[in-house]
Amino acid sequence: RRKKMVKICCIGAGYVGGPTMAVIALKCPSIEVVVVDISVPRITAWNSEQLPIYEPGLDEVVEQCRGKNLFFSTNVEKHVSEADIIFVSVNTPTKTLGLGAGKAADLTYWESAARMIADVSKSDKIVVEKSTVPVKTAEAIERILTHNSKGIKFQILSNPEFLAEGTAVWDLFNPDRVLIGGRETPDGQKAIQALKKVYANWVPEERILTTNLWSAELSKLAANALLAQRISSINAMSALCEATGADVSQVSHAVGKDSRIGPKFLNASVGFGGSCFQKDILNLVYICECNGLAEVADYWKQVIKVNDYQKNRFVNRIVSSMFNTVSGKKIGVLGFAFKKDTGDTRETPAIDVCKGLLGDMARLSIYDPQVTDDQIQKDLTMNKFDWDHPVHLQPMSPIDIKQVSVVWDAYEAAKDAHGLCILTEWDEFKILDYQRIFDNMQKPAFVFDGCNVVNVGELREIGFIVYSIGKPM
Ligand code: NAD
Ligand code: UGA
Repeated sequence: RRKKMVKICCIGAGYVGGPTMAVIALKCPSIEVVVVDISVPRITAWNSEQLPIYEPGLDEVVEQCRGKNLFFSTNVEKHVSEADIIFVSVNTPTKTLGLGAGKAADLTYWESAARMIADVSKSDKIVVEKSTVPVKTAEAIERILTHNSKGIKFQILSNPEFLAEGTAVWDLFNPDRVLIGGRETPDGQKAIQALKKVYANWVPEERILTTNLWSAELSKLAANALLAQRISSINAMSALCEATGADVSQVSHAVGKDSRIGPKFLNASVGFGGSCFQKDILNLVYICECNGLAEVADYWKQVIKVNDYQKNRFVNRIVSSMFNTVSGKKIGVLGFAFKKDTGDTRETPAIDVCKGLLGDMARLSIYDPQVTDDQIQKDLTMNKFDWDHPVHLQPMSPIDIKQVSVVWDAYEAAKDAHGLCILTEWDEFKILDYQRIFDNMQKPAFVFDGCNVVNVGELREIGFIVYSIGKPM
């Protein structure tokens, strides 16, 4: 008798759900994978030639399995009810209202997914937390799932995702580790083994770690907190480098040679962005506060404060270098995404830097190879959520969107500009013809490099005045 095909359903077709499920489908031809979402445009895009997210290598993976064992659908209930394993990969943003506003994770989407699972299920299910959630969420989810379970057994697992955007496909093919947490009961252990079997199709066994539920949930928050803390640490050093004549790249290189410290994640920048680092640290801070651990909460809060400081410092440097005013001056902005190889702008430092410059009445001409005009206009006109004072949305500063133009070429962005600001480390910015850019700019021509992509010596040779984070002036 042929064994029944395992069915996986993933709720949430976003930056995590889409790529992770595409890779599972590719690596496990005998498993049927359906990704469902309430957003019709998102699902339509996943079923089209133009996927909703830009990720190197993703098109090829989707093309190989879509329509065979990988499907995208808005028929959420049908596919949830048919699945053996349900991943929940919905968004878990920071709460902006009510208890814990500004810090706590908003689990509205998660809870509504859990209630729907409980309502439509007719057979036993393994429910996998893929979203990043506060430690102890599984307990709440378990109660929601079982409150009207009609005798159906649910096992809940925590399987946090560690992929980074821009390298998602590579990270999924070659994960440093896969983490699976579950209940320490025989049924919990059986569920862990079932999920482990899925990953074992391509991940070496020794890289699949199994823990209890709470360790898995907390490890995800801990990993992001430690990664972000490294960036804030080197960014704090960058300010000291500028004050003393040390060069932060040399310092990073020297300290990274210590095998206990290691070389990765020590690039000074205008600040970290992305949808998760700040959100997850705030979430951690909130959990610490709820557990009466004020000192621990303050320690992690400082990582975000340094990040805000770094962005402000960069804007102040631009304005003060340009004779204390950028009013009416054109500034070219290269890069808007929060890192290279993605079109994602969530929490990108470019938003804060651009708003700072617009607040000083600069005119901006922005170029990013993957971010659309619409997205940039939306990001710059949206009220900023102030995590430290969540009750007040920061009032809209008088940003005049007419002061912003979005162009499709770096040279166009720089033309007739007084200054050029580099905010994303796209490879193409390393190989621009800076002589040509210089020739077409107002003089003196300034370059402000927020991600250490330019060769400072060469640009100074051309005649630019260059400010690069953490480098001697
Ligand atoms: P996203 O916003 O791109 O995608 C979430 C999707 O869930 C959206 O398309 C939304 O429409 C859908 N959704 C919400 N509620 C739903 C419901 N009830 N039923 C069906 N669909 C629903 O978010 P993302 O970036 O993929 O992140 C998802 C989670 O993964 C978050 O918890 C995040 O912290 C975590 N995470 C993200 C990354 C990353 O690189 N972006 C990496 C690791 C972990
Ligand atoms: C990060 C983590 O790296 C992933 O492991 C995690 O799964 C993910 O968050 C998540 O939970 O969402 P991501 O935000 O996609 O991934 O990208 P990163 O490469 O971590 O970069 C984040 C930000 O830090 C970017 O703005 C980047 O420019 C900045 N950064 C990174 C630095 O400023 N310096 C560095 O040395 C490295």
